[in-house]
Amino acid sequence: MKYDYLIVGAGLFGAVFAQQAKQAGKTVLVIDKRSHLGGNVYTEEVEGIQVHRYGAHIFHTSDRKIWEYVQQFAVFNRYTNSPVARYKDEVYNLPFNMNTFYQMWGVKTPEEAKEKLKSQIREAAVCEPKNLEEQALSLVGKDIYEKLIRGYTEKQWGKRAKELPSFIIRRLPVRYTYDNNYFNDSYQGIPVGGYTRMVERMLDGVEIRLNTDYFQAREELDRLADRVVFTGMIDAYYGECYGKLDYRSLRFETEVMDTPNYQGNAVVNYTEYEVPYTRIIEHKHFEFGTQPKTVITREYPADWTGKEEPYYPINDERNNRLYEKYKALADQEDRVIFGGRLGMYRYYDMHQVIAEALESARKEFS
Ligand code: FDA
Repeated sequence: MKYDYLIVGAGLFGAVFAQQAKQAGKTVLVIDKRSHLGGNVYTEEVEGIQVHRYGAHIFHTSDRKIWEYVQQFAVFNRYTNSPVARYKDEVYNLPFNMNTFYQMWGVKTPEEAKEKLKSQIREAAVCEPKNLEEQALSLVGKDIYEKLIRGYTEKQWGKRAKELPSFIIRRLPVRYTYDNNYFNDSYQGIPVGGYTRMVERMLDGVEIRLNTDYFQAREELDRLADRVVFTGMIDAYYGECYGKLDYRSLRFETEVMDTPNYQGNAVVNYTEYEVPYTRIIEHKHFEFGTQPKTVITREYPADWTGKEEPYYPINDERNNRLYEKYKALADQEDRVIFGGRLGMYRYYDMHQVIAEALESARKEFS
């Protein structure tokens, strides 16, 4: 059988493109080297709880079309991301808002909070930030930087804040309301029954081959279809002919706990450097679960050496320049479309990846 499209990767980009292709009357084969659908949004049921296997995934968007698009495949609950930060024995609400300022300094009104923040920034006395530490100090001053930013960021990047470039933190939004909602978007939630079920519905009626690595049978797979949608690593597609793109990785440690409620919140950030993980996710709180047990995941930032899962592209100057070289090759292809976070070497949230996939499909089918 010859297909119209071979789609490499059953993550969100691949699934949305496949759904649109099928709707346009095309024949599609989706392959993935993993043993499951969904890519990094994959969820799996443990103790009756949907466990986010590749880190916390909260869907959010301000684009009504994207929100309406995903409603076709799942009912979304009313989950609102409101993470909490633990620093030693102190607890703070995030993102930085009136609750955080009250917990940090005892200030109760927006005026008092603004004054306090201004005086902290003045005391830091940074004119031209030369590194991430100076940049953060110039934006929020010493207390917030030292308790809530420094350790967390150093763990994330595996480097001291003084060695990190200032561009990593461009802005640090502060909010002078008692509002712990992390996102500013109009729509937010978690698909009831998990992301995997949502992706299964997108791929309903589409032929899928799991445990199939494109590079293991490239020529044979290419022959199966007229066109290819590639959502794997763009440098790998070109045999790394210009060199390897860099990533940061993560390691997840998941544990079932014999208690109904371990930490009282889905996401707790550990902001001190001495605790080796950055976050603990308690999955049942994403879905207001009442099961007798709970499942938690500790998230450890990790270097990427080529063997680990490449989670975050490092969009610094060197890598962006390298990516542009690969993109120039990709632009010359007449039968291959590159998409998704690995194919486009960009950190995308879910709604952005869906928007990109819908746009690629629109160009292809209209
Ligand atoms: P994705 O990586 O999911 O899919 C690509 C697929 O291609 C994979 O399944 C892979 O196995 C497959 N593949 C690669 N090479 C292959 C090959 N050679 N042969 C066969 N298959 C191959 N977003 C958001 O909106 N809210 C959130 O809260 C979060 N949280 C979050 C946490 C963490 C820790 C991360 C890393 C990311 C998020 N995200 C997020 C982002 C979200 O995960 C992301 O937008 C989508 O998963 C991207 O979908 P893609 O299809 O681009 O890639």
